[in-house]
Parts: sequence; C-alpha cells; structure tokens
Amino acid sequence: MFIKGKAFSTLCFALAAGATTQTFLGSGTPNYGTLKKPMKSFTQSFAAPYDEGLFMPVEELSALSEAQFTTLGHPVFPNYSVRIKKSSDFCDGTVNAYTGYIDIEARHLFFYFFESRNDPAKDDVIFWTNGGPGCSSSLGVYVELGPCRVVNDTSTVFHPESWNSNANIFFVDQPIGVGFSYADYGETVSNTEEASKDIAAFVAIFFENFTQFKGRAFHMAGESYGGRYVPVFAAAVYDQNAMLTAAGVTPINLQSIMIGNGLTDFYTMSAAYVEMQCTGASVFPVQTISACNRMKQALPRCQKWLTESCITQFDMMNCEAASNFCDTEISEPFFATGMNPYDLSKVCDGPIEETLCYPITLSMASYLDQPSVRQKLGVDPAVTGNYSSCSNPVGQAFALAMDEYHPTYPHVAALLERGVRALIYVGSYDWICNWLGNQAWTLDMEWSGKEAFGQQPLESWLIDGKVAGKTRSANGLTFATVDGAGHMVPLDKPKEALTMVQRWLAGSGL
Ligand SMILES: *[C@@H]1O[C@H](CO)[C@@H](O)[C@H](O)[C@H]1NC(C)=O
Ligand SMILES: *[C@@H]1O[C@H](CO)[C@@H](O)[C@H](O)[C@H]1NC(C)=O
Ligand SMILES: *[C@@H]1O[C@H](CO)[C@@H](O)[C@H](O)[C@H]1NC(C)=O
Ligand SMILES: *[C@@H]1O[C@H](CO)[C@@H](O)[C@H](O)[C@H]1NC(C)=O
Repeated sequence: MFIKGKAFSTLCFALAAGATTQTFLGSGTPNYGTLKKPMKSFTQSFAAPYDEGLFMPVEELSALSEAQFTTLGHPVFPNYSVRIKKSSDFCDGTVNAYTGYIDIEARHLFFYFFESRNDPAKDDVIFWTNGGPGCSSSLGVYVELGPCRVVNDTSTVFHPESWNSNANIFFVDQPIGVGFSYADYGETVSNTEEASKDIAAFVAIFFENFTQFKGRAFHMAGESYGGRYVPVFAAAVYDQNAMLTAAGVTPINLQSIMIGNGLTDFYTMSAAYVEMQCTGASVFPVQTISACNRMKQALPRCQKWLTESCITQFDMMNCEAASNFCDTEISEPFFATGMNPYDLSKVCDGPIEETLCYPITLSMASYLDQPSVRQKLGVDPAVTGNYSSCSNPVGQAFALAMDEYHPTYPHVAALLERGVRALIYVGSYDWICNWLGNQAWTLDMEWSGKEAFGQQPLESWLIDGKVAGKTRSANGLTFATVDGAGHMVPLDKPKEALTMVQRWLAGSGL
C-alpha cells in the first residue's frame, strides 16, 4: 500500500482518528518512550564458545525449537542477534515455517520465513517487504503472495499460488514501529536510507546463520512504497558485500530486485495521475471533463515547481509547497470521485481510512490480535496494543521527512550496471502507483542499457496462450503490466503473478 499521508491531511487525520479501531502500539501514545526490555526467556545459545573464533552456525533450520526462541549471533556483527522459532503447522502446513526477530541493539525487526514447497535446499531466497511507508508485510503473507490467506477474523486457508511454490521467502515488518517490529528506547526511523542499515544487517545475519542458504541466489522484492525501499535496500546489501568479504564472510548472492506497483519516481507519477483519470489508458475515464481540463492546466506548473524545488535542488519547504499544489490540483479531485485509488475498476470498499478499500485487512488485524496466534508467532510481549496493517506514526515520520521525494531509479540503474536484474511489474488498474508512471521512469532512466531498452516494443506476454499483460525487456531490466490487477497484483491475479515470478526467477523472459 502506498498512502499519500502528507498530501491528504484529511485522509491522514482520518487514519489517526480511525486508529482507535486498529491501533498499533497505541498510535496516540506510542510504546516508544516507555522503557521496555526485550524478553529474555529464549534459549541463550549465543553464549556458547566459538570454535577458534569461528561462529557455530545453525546448519539446519528444522532443528530449531517450536516452543522457544533460539538466539543466534555472529562475531562479525557483535551488536546483532537473531531470535527464531519454528512453527511447522503455521499458515502453510506443508513446509517448515519460522518466525522471529532480528535484534539490532535495541531495534527488533519481526519476520516470517517460509521454506519452498518445491526444494528448499536448492530454490532461491526472496526477501519481501510491503510499503506504506509504515505498512506491515503481514499484508503480503495473508492477503497477497503468502502461503495462506485470511478468510475471516479467526481463520486462514491454504493458498496454492503462493510465491513459496518454488522459492524460500521471508517477509519483514520494517522499519521498526511497523507490524510486530518494535524498539526498546523510543528509537524511530524516518527515512529509507536509515531503514536500509537494519535490513542489510538482517540479510547478512540470516545467510550467515542459516548455512543451508549461504551463497544462495537472492532476490529483494517489494510493493508500492517498496519502489523506494527495495532499490535502496538492495544497494545497501550489495555495498555491504565488500565488508563481508573483508571479514571472511560469504557475500550475499544478490541476483535481482522485483518491484510491484512501486513508487520509485514521484515526478513521473504526476503526469501519469492525470492521464490515468482522464484517458482510457486502463479504464474508461473516471474524471469529469471540466476537472480534467483544470488538471491539464495545472500540470505544467506542478511539474515546473517539482523540478525546481525537489529535483534540481532539494529544498524541503519549497518541495513541500510544490507537492501540496500538485496534490490539491491533481490527486484531491481523484479522491473526490470515490473510486478505489488502488483499483480504478472499482469504487472504494471503504471508508478508506478504515479498510484501505479492502475490508479483508480488518479481518487480518483481528486474526493477528488473537492471543493464540500471537503466541504461535512469538510476538514479543513488548508489542502491546492491537495490530494495525499500517502504522500512522511511521507513515507520518516518513511524510515529515519528505522521504517519498527522493527517487530511487538511480539505485536501480546502479544495480543494473552491476549485473543485478530488475523486474518492474504493475497491475494495470492501479492509480496510486500506476503503470504509466512506472513505464515513464524505466524509459527515462540513464544507464548503459537505456537505448537497448527504449528500442524494445511493448509486447504482450502470455500464459497458456492468453494475454496476461504487456512487457518490454533488455539488458536485465524488465517492465511488465498485469492486466486486470490493481495495486496488489498477487491478490487480484494470483496465477499470473506466480507465473511471472517463476519465469523471472528462472531467468527467462516473461
Ligand atoms: C548463528 O548461530 C550460532 C548458534 O546460535 C551462533 O553461534 C552464531 O554466532 C550465529 N551466527 C550469526 C551470524 O548470527
Ligand atoms: C556495538 O555497540 C557498542 C555499544 O553501543 C559500540 O560502542 C560499538 O561501536 C558497536 N559495534 C559495532 C561493530 O557497531
Ligand atoms: C472462518 O473460516 C473457516 C474456514 O473457512 C470456517 O471454518 C469458520 O467457520 C469461519 N468462521 C466464521 C466465524 O465465519
Ligand atoms: C483493541 O481492539 C479491541 C476490539 O476491537 C478494542 O475493544 C480495544 O479497545 C482495542 N485496544 C486498543 C488498545 O486500542
């Protein structure tokens, strides 16, 4: 989910007000600040002496306990450790599942890890994060690409088109303050670069400890605001390899990034927002002719201001003023239509500030609030209060920092130059992070493959002879649309989404 918090002070306010029904860490009175110690009841295998200074990795994840956490650490990362426990019959039922925390000093990032349904010993590893900023990756697990789907307040059912069909996959609640992740002493993270430090440490410890995955092909994926997160995180993981190598640790075998309906470049989105509501780019125009005409007059001014204040030279106050102007002229009229910003083919099943237009997210929250589920997941007692799909404090902190106004296509370009492939896929019905805006930046981006990529036509890609969407690909960069899907592609088009990912992991074209 990408939540335009700043732009829509009304939406933002409503989100905060609605927080009584869906509060995470008590959004009005965050847990931050109240001094909470992490629980200490897990097995302290950490203190065991090393073999000549070498760490003793846990070779077999399946050897872990279901009842208690096992704590892991590594001399190269003296301040980091991992708490992990097995939950074999959880969510999937056919594979080993694990949950835990990566503890980075006083920061604690919650994760789920599901082994592949095919061959965990050989299949690739995928890292997944949802967006927001501030939204929990439980959305990914229970509503989109995970091994099970929440069906009501108390139950999940097996999801056959899960992305762990032939990949090992972990889902991370990040940054701290999101989902079941927490911090001890009121630390907060308000920008992506800062969040990337914790993620890079997370990834390094994960592969070091679970030696069965060491050196395994690795892909970093995310959705929505993940378009900002994933390129920065992947760049941090890539750059960290020099340090790992110097320390005698196996580097991370980062192969690709995958971004679904991403917000990678705010600038190209502004023109695309107009086109998506006023032309038949995906659906019949949803906006009135008069509103469209006004928008078209405002757009050049919006673009000029954004360029001057956010791009050529970043000036916080001017950039904010420019973005407010664009939002007032272009986004607010869209929200006034009542259409679902995540799916132009539908009206919002709202109110949006309660349901995010998808009432199933409320069922997911209720499901995750069951004490039995929290216990099974090993949610730390420091995480009190009701579960919330998206954290308002985190969203607001990112909005205040204007994090979204720092495009990440330069990171994508840099990764491509280093042989890390990039899949940019977009559900065609999404408005908020739409395909036109994503297509525009993939074509505009400066990199050595720019010309080759730009020369490719946008062609149909097929599943069983039927058109699933359009794609363009060259030199490791693939852009693809998924027909008939909204913002959450795996929710709307599970079969197409899985097939796309399988083809991508196999290294073949779509
Ligand atoms: C992995 O776990 C072992 C055993 O708990 C620990 O000794 C080792 O330091 C850990 N390695 C990392 C990188 O966490
Ligand atoms: C670990 O934490 C200690 C105390 O906060 C700090 O002095 C030290 O620099 C940290 N070590 C690393 C490798 O970050
Ligand atoms: C929830 O769904 C499960 C599985 O479909 C079903 O057995 C159960 O009766 C449902 N519970 C409610 C309260 O509807
Ligand atoms: C959590 O949700 C329950 C049920 O909706 C509600 O009664 C309770 O007040 C909520 N707790 C908090 C801390 O918001």
